Amino acid sequence: MRIAVYPGSFDPVTNGHLDIIKRSSRLFDKVIVAVLHNASKTPLFTVEEKMDLLSQVTSDIPNVEIDSFSGLLADYVMENKISSIVKGLRAVSDFEYELQMALMNRKLNPDVETIFMMTSGEYSYLSSSIVKEVFKFNGCIKGLVPDEVIDAMKKKVSL
Ligand code: PNS
Repeated sequence: MRIAVYPGSFDPVTNGHLDIIKRSSRLFDKVIVAVLHNASKTPLFTVEEKMDLLSQVTSDIPNVEIDSFSGLLADYVMENKISSIVKGLRAVSDFEYELQMALMNRKLNPDVETIFMMTSGEYSYLSSSIVKEVFKFNGCIKGLVPDEVIDAMKKKVSL
């Protein structure tokens, strides 16, 4: 069984992420979307909320599972019989850091392969941070994130 992991912060999941999840689910028997517990960031959503949103927006893809991890991705890969790490590439600016991570992950775990998928053109400018920024100043984010995410973001600001 070919298992891939698609790791990230997903704060929140965007339509760019969802595009990579859908496309990678056609290439692997199982894709685990793994949310990083990152103590050094102050996220908008908790890990549980992020996982819940990811479950909702991937409920129609049977071979996608949602999980979370902390520590090194290379260790998570080893513990879960994962063969590949899936990453999305948007622009040249992503490349340098992604290359560094791919090479470090291979050093830590020589059996793992990082697979890069090019973003769909319509999402090439999208990031979770830019979505949050636009939302904060009441800009329209429809079509950039799933509707469930918009609802969850509205609930957050009304708290
Ligand atoms: O969505 P993001 O924030 O761009 O995702 C980054 C992520 C989670 C993929 C990366 O930070 C990561 O893998 N972190 C886990 C810690 C780790 O393994 N660091 C060394 C990577 S070489």
